[in-house]
Amino acid sequence: MIRPRRNRKSPAVRALVRETTLSASDFIYPLFVHDKNADEAIDSMPGCIRWSIEGLLKEAGEAQALGIPAVVIFPAISEDLKSSDAVQCYNDDGLIPRAIKALKATYPELCVITDVALDPYNSDGHDGLVAENEHGGLEIINDETVEVLCQQALCHARAGADMVSPSDMMDGRVEAIRTTLDSEGYQDVSILAYTAKYASAYYGPFRGALESTPKAGDKKTYQMDPANVHEAIRETLLDEEEGADIIMVKPAGPYLDVISQVRNATTLPLAAYQVSGEYLMIKAAAKDGWLDEQAVMMESLIGIKRAGADIIVTYFAKQAARCL
Ligand code: PBG
Repeated sequence: MIRPRRNRKSPAVRALVRETTLSASDFIYPLFVHDKNADEAIDSMPGCIRWSIEGLLKEAGEAQALGIPAVVIFPAISEDLKSSDAVQCYNDDGLIPRAIKALKATYPELCVITDVALDPYNSDGHDGLVAENEHGGLEIINDETVEVLCQQALCHARAGADMVSPSDMMDGRVEAIRTTLDSEGYQDVSILAYTAKYASAYYGPFRGALESTPKAGDKKTYQMDPANVHEAIRETLLDEEEGADIIMVKPAGPYLDVISQVRNATTLPLAAYQVSGEYLMIKAAAKDGWLDEQAVMMESLIGIKRAGADIIVTYFAKQAARCL
């Protein structure tokens, strides 16, 4: 009789036949930084902190010691530095360039990734520049935004970033950023592209962390419709052609089919972002003992890997690395 259970009979046999494994080297650890001397707990994301640069260094060092190869940094910018032209995003003395320099000086081997998008710097809270269209409605203007994103990417490259990660979903930005970096001598700075980034309600806690919720309108004219998957393939083929080094799908857990289909459409490395809302749901359910936090965390991560992601961006990076 054929008995599939023979392959499950002991931990040793299960280890032999296991198809997917997690490793600390799969993770990118997202970190929030602000321009204050004290570290601050983030109300909307229990367990996450807005770090001072000093705190950021300590946290990144702990991550590296656990075998996590990369961090991605997000800035919480004070309200008075935000403007409708988002010019602070390419200030060489700004928070992110200072954080990059401090990280690279302390941990030269750590891969430092930056987010390229205007929302933390934009008084309108959108990832792109906002203009009024002829009907009096809001419009996120693509090509003008891409020019600013190129300046931002260049500023991060000058400060020493290993990878820039455009999360804005403007058309043509990967190619424009690649061309700008190449022409300025930064041909070795990689692009981790948010290729299929959906207009998701799961980003809510993150926007709380950065106080970057759009003042008006939503992000549906640039982020993707959660109902679509062919469009994710189209974006993948475009980003590949435009010169992306790594493709990303975001969110991760509710979009495992997208990860799987994108996996089959490209030979590039594939990342998936387990976003703030996915993290928060597990934290919230575990808080009163409704779920086993550690077990559900590990299962959520193995599911993302099994679907086809090579790399996972996750707020659980340190906690999961400790379990491995
Ligand atoms: C913005 C950005 C967002 C996230 C990463 N970069 C939010 C958004 O698009 O509104 C979300 C990350 C998360 O929820 O964990 N460019």
